[in-house]
Amino acid sequence: MKTGAVTATAYVNGAFVSLAEARVSVLDRGFLFADGVYEVIPAYGGKSFALREHLARLARSLRELQIANPHSEAEWTDLAQKLMDQNGGGDCMIYFQITRGAPEKRSHAFPLNTPPTVVGLCNALPVPGETALRDGVGAVTRPDIRWGRCDIKSIALLPNILASQAAGEQACNEAILHRDGRVTEGASSNVFAVLGTSVVTPSKGPEILSGITRDVLLEALRAAKVPVQERRLTLNELRSAEEIWLTSSTREVLPVTKLDGDPVGSRKPGALWKKAYALFQDAKRKA
Ligand code: PDD
Repeated sequence: MKTGAVTATAYVNGAFVSLAEARVSVLDRGFLFADGVYEVIPAYGGKSFALREHLARLARSLRELQIANPHSEAEWTDLAQKLMDQNGGGDCMIYFQITRGAPEKRSHAFPLNTPPTVVGLCNALPVPGETALRDGVGAVTRPDIRWGRCDIKSIALLPNILASQAAGEQACNEAILHRDGRVTEGASSNVFAVLGTSVVTPSKGPEILSGITRDVLLEALRAAKVPVQERRLTLNELRSAEEIWLTSSTREVLPVTKLDGDPVGSRKPGALWKKAYALFQDAKRKA
């Protein structure tokens, strides 16, 4: 798939259709209530990365919202492959969205006898370019105004969207969210900080999404004997960090060199980031 390429063929409820023909009902609960979940799965050279982990997280998100999982792991795997094949393969990201379906009328309570809506898309993977890797990116900090179950990959993303927009308006790549003096995560990424010789990232729990990239990186860092801590990270610590990194399926491991307009550490991507980035590229190759 070429850089910037977007879905040509989408998957909607059992059928592959051209994007122009892909439709869901206006009564779909995703549209009316943001009552659904999603996953973004990266693929390199037409081969999905950490697919099992993404599918396990998807199954968990569905379970937590009491939406019946419409497919087995094998069926999701097959669907992901078909979506890539139909859209030219290469470096791409597979998007799955499942909602609580489209009943006959709008009503808050769960509908009866309504199958979930399943949509699949496949776009080019917008991994960081040379400039971002050479110079790093900017980030802003924003209060985390989201609900109490950020561990569920819900499609209700309004606070994330407002924070991302605020970052973009300041020519920044990401908004780093904080609650009661603690860093939670980015609007669409996890956050790492280098404090002294340790790499610190906020612990898992209901306040953050359990990022797959975060897990892959933590495992690689530990295997390379880099000291890592999953613990509470304060906003003050973040402001004094030597390095800050963002992780996500589309950012991979991205260095932040400006926070709220102030330089981070040496103003350049740091030595530990270089190591972390190399470890992540290794993990990709070995997958
Ligand atoms: N977002 N935290 C949030 C709030 C996210 O939305 C994401 C990913 C992550 C990182 O998760 P992972 O490493 O599994 O991609 C953390 C995706 C890419 C998105 O919404 O487009």
